[in-house]
Amino acid sequence: MNVLLTGASKGLGAALAAELARGGHRIVIVARHADELQRTAARIGAHALPADVGDKHAVHAIAGAAAALVGPIDVLIHNASTLGPTPLKLLLDTDCEDFEQVLQANLVGPFRLTKIVAGAMALRGSGLVVHVSSDAAVAAYPRWGAYGVSKAALDHLNRSWAVEVPGVKFISIDPGEMDTDMHAAAMPEADRKTLARPEDVARKIAKLIGDAERLESGARLTVAP
Ligand SMILES: NC(=O)c1ccc[n+]([C@@H]2O[C@H](COP(=O)([O-])OP(=O)(O)OC[C@H]3O[C@@H](n4cnc5c(N)ncnc54)[C@H](OP(=O)(O)O)[C@@H]3O)[C@@H](O)[C@H]2O)c1
Repeated sequence: MNVLLTGASKGLGAALAAELARGGHRIVIVARHADELQRTAARIGAHALPADVGDKHAVHAIAGAAAALVGPIDVLIHNASTLGPTPLKLLLDTDCEDFEQVLQANLVGPFRLTKIVAGAMALRGSGLVVHVSSDAAVAAYPRWGAYGVSKAALDHLNRSWAVEVPGVKFISIDPGEMDTDMHAAAMPEADRKTLARPEDVARKIAKLIGDAERLESGARLTVAP
């Protein structure tokens, strides 16, 4: 399969890219910081595409370059995500510009990229789009407002695509709490020993992707710890 995976220079994205590359798939990975992305790509045998998914001028280049590197995209995984500024702030203290920036990266960017990639999938009559969600999409936690709103909307975007685009499968996955830079930035006081390893979560997500035929389009899945 040809896979385009965003937010994959580190954390869950890098672990999932490595897992899928080991499975023999052709992988294109995206992140903003080119050096770290290139190092990850070289280590796991993927193609690196430095870009910001929240930049509306970047999405056509991402889709075009990815297809040029590996061929038509069979699986698009929206994993890139931002919390906004940390320490996380209460909504009343959140700048509108920061709220907007979180939505651009976590919601609008994935919408734009899916529009391009899933359009081609729909014409071919096959393809899978995965949205990486969070429990903050379902439960409201103080200070997680902007991020939680973006993930709740991403889940609903997933369901909405599913009812509008037959032939393409859309799923949303809550990966659970993992020991990554994002978690450390949000909750530096957390006991890292209680958190899942991104490699273990990646193995479970890769299995779900491999079994996607059996999944209902629009489903929201949780990776059990
Ligand atoms: N960690 C957890 O406990 C947890 C829990 C629930 C859900 N999640 C979700 O799981 C996914 C992975 O999280 P993680 O913890 O692995 O995060 P992470 O360690 O912070 O990694 C995030 C990755 O996304 C890239 N990225 C961020 N903003 C981007 C943008 N605008 N454009 C392109 N790439 C971007 C980062 O690289 P650059 O900075 O170089 O761009 C990095 O490669 C996210 O969707 C997150 O919301 C995580």
